[in-house]
Amino acid sequence: MKQFFSVADVIDLSGIVDEALRLKREPFAYSNLGKRKTLGLVFLNPSLRTRLSTHKAAANLGMDVMVMNMDKDGWALETRDGVAMDGTTVEHIREAAAVMGQYCDILGIRSFPKLVDQEEDYSEDLFGKFIRFCGVPVISLESATRHPLQSLTDLITIREHWKDDRKPKVVMAWAPHVKALPQAVPNSFAEWMCRAQAENILDFTIAHPAGYELSSVFTQGATVKYALDDALEGADFIYVKNWSSFKDYGKIHSVREQWMLDQGKLELTNQAKVMHCLPVRRDVELASEVLDGPQSLVIEEAGNRVWAAQVVLKRMLDELT
Ligand code: CP
Repeated sequence: MKQFFSVADVIDLSGIVDEALRLKREPFAYSNLGKRKTLGLVFLNPSLRTRLSTHKAAANLGMDVMVMNMDKDGWALETRDGVAMDGTTVEHIREAAAVMGQYCDILGIRSFPKLVDQEEDYSEDLFGKFIRFCGVPVISLESATRHPLQSLTDLITIREHWKDDRKPKVVMAWAPHVKALPQAVPNSFAEWMCRAQAENILDFTIAHPAGYELSSVFTQGATVKYALDDALEGADFIYVKNWSSFKDYGKIHSVREQWMLDQGKLELTNQAKVMHCLPVRRDVELASEVLDGPQSLVIEEAGNRVWAAQVVLKRMLDELT
C-alpha cells in the first residue's frame, strides 16, 4: 500500500477488516516490523483519537513516531504555485513536504476543509501536493473530503458486532449541530458502506433533511430517506453524524423536525447499535440516554481506531521492508 486516502486504496475490503481483527487479537505479532522506521504525524487541525490511536498503532509495530502540530508549531504554509511569497506564508509545501519525507518513512497528515469554496476543498489540492512532494507513503488522518481511518474503523466495528447470517441494515443519520461541520466523515462513511453494499456485506441507507444531500460521488447505490423515523425502521446499526450542506456549501439550514436520536427513536429500530466517530455534542447531536445506554458502541468504536491504523501501517511497512 503506497497511500491510504480513500476506499479505492483498498483492494480487499473483507481482507483488510479480517487482518485488522487479527491484529486486535495479537497486537504485538509484528512488533519488529517497524523497527528503525519513523512515522511522522502532521496535524493542521486538532485531534484526540486520530493522534493517539495512530501513535499507539505505530508503537505496536515497533516504529518511532514524530508529531508535528503545523497549525501551532510550524511555519505558515504556502500551497499555491506561481506566487511571490511576500505575504504571511513563510514556507512552501514543496519544501516542507519534501523535508518531512527526508526524516520519515511514512507520513500521516490531517487537513480540514475551509468550507468556503467547494471547488477548492473538493480539489484536495493540499493533500495532493503533500503526497506528490513528500516522496514517501502517506496516510490520510482526515482530509477535506474523507476520513478513511475512521471509516475502516467503522466497518471493523460493524463486522465485530454482527453475528447474524442476514445482511445488517446500516443507517447513517444526519444529526443537528451548533456549527457548520465538514462532509469528510459522512462522505467517507458513505463511500465505504456503498462499497460494502456492492460486495453484498450490508444494506446501506442515508437519512437527512432536504438540503443536506451529499455529493453523489460518495453515495452510489445508497438508499436515501428524508424522514428519520422511516429510515430507522429495521435498522441494525445507526451511524449518527452532523454535516453542513454540500449544495449550499458549508451552510446550515434550519430543520423543524426532531433529528436528534433519543431513546424513543431508538425503539423504532431492530435494537440497533449506535455509532458516532466522536467528538459528540451530548443532547445536541445525540441524547445522553443513548450515549450512556447499552446499545452505544462509541467507546469500542474509538478503541478500534488503533486496529484500523495498525493494519494500514503494517501493509505500508510490508512494502517498505
Ligand atoms: N474521530 C476522530 O477523528 O477524532 P479526532 O478528531 O479526535 O481525531
